[in-house]
Amino acid sequence: MSQSEHGDALVIFGMTGDLAFKQIIPALQRMVQAGDLDVPVVGVAREHWTRERLNTRMRESLEASNDGLDPEAFGKLCELVRYAWGTYDESRTYSSLSDALEGAKRPVHYLAIPPTLFATVVDHIGNAGLAGEGARVVVEKPFGRDLASAQALNYALHRVFPEERCFRIDHFLGKSPVENILFFRFANAFLEPIWNRDHVRQIQITMAEDFDVANRGSFYDGVGAIRDVIENHLFQVLTLLAMDPFSGNHGDAMRAEKARFLRSVRELRPQDVVRGQYAGYRATDGVDPKSTVETFAAMRLHADSWRWADVPIIIRAGKCMPMKATEICVELKKPPEKLFPKQHAHGNRIRFQINPEVALGIEVQTRRGDVEEFDVQDIELMALQEQAHEIPPYQRLLSAALRGEHDLFATQDTIEEAWRIVDPILGDATPIHGYEQGTWGPDEADRLAPAPGWFAPRLRGKDNSHPADRKAEAAA
Ligand code: BG6
Repeated sequence: MSQSEHGDALVIFGMTGDLAFKQIIPALQRMVQAGDLDVPVVGVAREHWTRERLNTRMRESLEASNDGLDPEAFGKLCELVRYAWGTYDESRTYSSLSDALEGAKRPVHYLAIPPTLFATVVDHIGNAGLAGEGARVVVEKPFGRDLASAQALNYALHRVFPEERCFRIDHFLGKSPVENILFFRFANAFLEPIWNRDHVRQIQITMAEDFDVANRGSFYDGVGAIRDVIENHLFQVLTLLAMDPFSGNHGDAMRAEKARFLRSVRELRPQDVVRGQYAGYRATDGVDPKSTVETFAAMRLHADSWRWADVPIIIRAGKCMPMKATEICVELKKPPEKLFPKQHAHGNRIRFQINPEVALGIEVQTRRGDVEEFDVQDIELMALQEQAHEIPPYQRLLSAALRGEHDLFATQDTIEEAWRIVDPILGDATPIHGYEQGTWGPDEADRLAPAPGWFAPRLRGKDNSHPADRKAEAAA
């Protein structure tokens, strides 16, 4: 099958679920609006619903969404949607699905259901003859809980679908600000000569969320920050930032480079990781009152490659932080000689903000003009700074899966490499430290960052100095 052959039906397992309500149905409306959805959409779920009931659910989802309901697109969507119901372990469900597919040859099966059901559903899809040469499968995260379970899941998928017909969703890859990393690095020639251990002092990534786990307690308590956002979303971001350039405009080439970078990253040891839990987490509905699951994690990675050997790569992510922002900061080495009386404690920084804004800035140090003595100030050259008016990731991802394009999806290689890296420190391999809500996590995490410490993301309109800068100034 040529991967560019368009799918001729979209099957959504879990059509009555929360993910469909919040993300998928609004994405379908947008796909209709964009002219990207013109094939039957078959919803599958356990509920014994009529088409009318499903239409009502879709209406409610759209009315509750940021986009609101577009009557014309909604009308078209209702024409495209069909429904097959039944439990996922009964052949009857798949016969109904087959009827609803009316002979479609290239169905794209999207499993928006808990991963424990993947193997069963995929086997049934195969047995029902719905995994023919043109069919594809799209699976949601979490893709496993550790290396062994990810390998078992891959094995289960591959019994029915070869790798080139598997699409694994990591919605960060569908975010255009994340793709911008790739553009900034490889559409320009000036960065590459300095993008290595000769010039880069450290790489930091912070993903801060200023809210708690809310009503997701029972899900979150089985997962924790490392599995929830670090080993998938942030490792994918890091990979785009740190991988080698790929040759040729071919998706396979890029995917191979991504896996190659992750292969160079060492397995984490307990001393490379600090885990935290915000005060009050254990009182959340669905959370074990004695839970030791982390709502914050910080880690220091080591990449044994010619490009990055010995460059600290530090990542942190947490709930109940002081702000909601995801930002990468690449600090360059300082000039070799101190020529001016006052010089910064840090080198030039290159900043990629993924949210709340899309920002891309290069900080340079210049002479302060308003004082007599030689004093230094930071000026940030902004290559880009705008509100994140991004196309919602699910619209891009589902459209890409229908077109058979792999670039926006995680591959088996990268997923297994990511699990290999975190496998030794999962669970209670490291102690859990408490932290107050609205702080940057436990103080223990400070030791992972080179002096002068972690750089907090910068928010436009707020005090623009990094806490680490203030720390350095106070120490000077
Ligand atoms: C999800 C995690 O995958 O990503 C959530 O389960 C997290 O805990 C979310 O909040 C963050 O994604 P976004 O797109 O809202 O920044």
